[in-house]
This record gives sequence, structure tokens and C-alpha cells, in this order.
Amino acid sequence: MNKQILALALGLLSGSAALAQQGQVNVICSVQADWCNLIQTVFARSTGIKVNMTLKGSGEALAQLIAEKANPKTDVWFGGTGDPHLQAAEQDLSLEYKSAALKELHAWAQAQAEQSGFKTVGVYSGPLGFGYNSELIAKKKLGIPKTWADLLKPEYKGEIQVANPASSGTAYTMVATLVQLMGEDKAFDYMKALHKNISQYTRSGTGPIKNVARGEASVSISFVHDGPGEKMQGFPVETITPAEGTGAEIGSMSIIKGARNLEQAKAFYEWALTPKAQQFGAAAKQYQLPSNKAAPVDPNVPDFKKIKFINYDYAKYGASAERKRLISKWEKEVNALPR
Ligand code: F6P
Repeated sequence: MNKQILALALGLLSGSAALAQQGQVNVICSVQADWCNLIQTVFARSTGIKVNMTLKGSGEALAQLIAEKANPKTDVWFGGTGDPHLQAAEQDLSLEYKSAALKELHAWAQAQAEQSGFKTVGVYSGPLGFGYNSELIAKKKLGIPKTWADLLKPEYKGEIQVANPASSGTAYTMVATLVQLMGEDKAFDYMKALHKNISQYTRSGTGPIKNVARGEASVSISFVHDGPGEKMQGFPVETITPAEGTGAEIGSMSIIKGARNLEQAKAFYEWALTPKAQQFGAAAKQYQLPSNKAAPVDPNVPDFKKIKFINYDYAKYGASAERKRLISKWEKEVNALPR
């Protein structure tokens, strides 16, 4: 982990942080590595509880929890898009837990908790949009994509990347957003046409914007909060949200049912909802909107007021049957097509 980031984070710890607790907690972390590493170190230093951290994309994390159901090895699942957390709740993989901090959270984070029967909670939110490499776009005279419709232009053939919705919550958010925006038939026609312009479906949701930043593709379909961190590393990457409207994720956190380290899991969960802990996303250059209303909002966090959002139906598209149906339809009708 970047030493500067860690020093900054440790500076945010209160001087009185006491190493009062013991034991360990097993966490699946579905945000980017720097943020995962930071909370692993800071939580351990401020509580005395060791964190064993595994990094997994949202869809892969859910698959692991399903596989572990009879004998859970995970205590907390931190981050990742909200839909698979709702499916984990529905499949009885996560534990009902009502934090006293719930009332400190934005309405969207509380709604996520309520609709899961308090088996998950919102920890951050972020809009879906496009990333683009400004140098490549200029060099290839492609024009900045401003709308979903723009991505179908023939000049983008082989220039666009998005993740695979089976492994990535980002990509599933795209599928669900398009279905809600266009209606299912038109959305699948759209994704079939888009398929011709896609160079690669990556495993992880952040893969496409990283590849765009490094000049391996011109355009990505990504969460826009993943753009500024790439730009800060010196890459020519910009983000935009489509004019027709877009969806947003409610990045979530769940305690796993049957957690072996339940007391430590609850300590981690409570800590992760505090304004202080919620600063570590921005400290790790990840710019989702924190769910605690008292958490500072970094200037790099996208301005939600300037974005046209659809009225995303989290309950419907977070249901297991709907996710499975849409992903297998995407596999059969879109991914199987030649390019
Ligand atoms: O950490 C970046 C991020 O975009 C999160 O905001 C999001 O919850 C997660 O990645 C989704 O990752 P994936 O698409 O790989 O499941």
C-alpha cells in the first residue's frame, strides 16, 4: 500500500484509539485494493482485532458465500454493488443486524437495510457512466461519447470495454440500468448492437477504466467514481454520465450468517459506518459518496445533483431470480454472438 496514504489514514485515527479488543475477523472486500488494505491496517491498529482480507468482485463474492453456506469462513462482506448483497440476504446467507448508526445514514443507505430485512446496509453510492481516454479519442477522432446511443456508432468498433455481469456488479448494474431505461426487449437489442463494439468483457468492474487509462481501449462503461484515481496517476482519463439517464449502485456491507467471529464482525461493521472510517475511501483515491451523512465529501466525489438518474428499482433487480435470469439471457443472447 502507498505509504503516504497509510500515513494520512493513521493521522485520521484519534490519539485515544485503544487496542481494547482481541481476535480476528475474516472480511471479503469488494472495493479496490488500496481501500481494502487501508481499512485492514487501520481497523487492526485502532481496535486490536486482526483482519484477514480477501479481495473479490461483487458477483464472485456472492458465489463464494453461496459455496461456503454450510460452513461459512467469512464474517463480513464489505463493499461491492448492492444487488448481490440483497441476493445474499434473500438466500439467507447474511445476518439480520440493526446498527444504532442507521439513523445517521442517507435515506438510500437506510432503504437498502430496510428492504433486506436489515441483513445488509448501504456504505456508499456512485453513478454508472463512461470513462474515456481523451488522448486516444482525439487521436482517433472518435468524439466524446455523451449518450448510450453514441456507444453504438461504428467508429467505436473494438474501442469499448465493460465487465462481464456474471462476475462484476458494475456490469450487472449496466444491464439492469438499460433494462429499466429502455424496456427489456430494446435493452437487449441495444446490448447486442453494443457487443459489436466491445473489445473485451473483463472479470472485474474496474478493469475497463484501468485499461482505458492505460490506452488499451478508448471508452469504458464504469462507475464514474473510479475515474479520478486513475487521472491522479497521470493517465489521460475523463468520465461522463449518459444524457438519457443512468443508474447508481448502493455499495453495501453484510455480516455473514454463521460468522465464527461474530463479536469482531459487529465491531468491524459498526466501525465501517462511522464518518471517520468512511473517509478512507477518498484517502485511498476512491470517490464514492459515503453513506454516513456526517462523513466529509471529497470534491472528487461526483455531484449527484448534476446527473440524470433513472428511478432504479433496487428490490426488483436485487432479487436472485431476476439477476440469474438477466445474466443467463445476456450470456445466451449477447455474449454468445460473434463480434
Ligand atoms: O471499488 C470500485 C467499485 O467500482 C465499487 O464502487 C463497486 O462496488 C465495485 O467496484 C464493483 O466491483 P465489480 O464490478 O468488480 O463487482
